[in-house]
Amino acid sequence: MAKITYIEHGGKEHVVEVANGMTVMEGARDNGIPGIEADCGGACACSTCHVYVAPEWVEKLPERDAMEEDMLDFAYEPDPTRSRLTCQLKVSDALDGLVVQMPEKQI
Ligand code: FES
Repeated sequence: MAKITYIEHGGKEHVVEVANGMTVMEGARDNGIPGIEADCGGACACSTCHVYVAPEWVEKLPERDAMEEDMLDFAYEPDPTRSRLTCQLKVSDALDGLVVQMPEKQI
């Protein structure tokens, strides 16, 4: 279980507990948090689950694989260091305290 803070582009924060084994995207979707659309349902085939990870978390997350890198090219204003696709981030105790911020829009 991990407590994850999702921050909307406008600054509104949502703090929710997400079960291990789910993805960060599913945590947002299941809690009705706006700003993560996840059009492809988590198949790493859209980029509408894009977020910016808080700087202190960048190094603590598993590295992006090639597919995530490719899809991030299609995201809105990706940041080379902080952008991630939340459907590719599996929740575990290690992610307790994670903070992510949604972009201005999802494309
Ligand atoms: S939900 Fe489509 S890439 Fe993450």
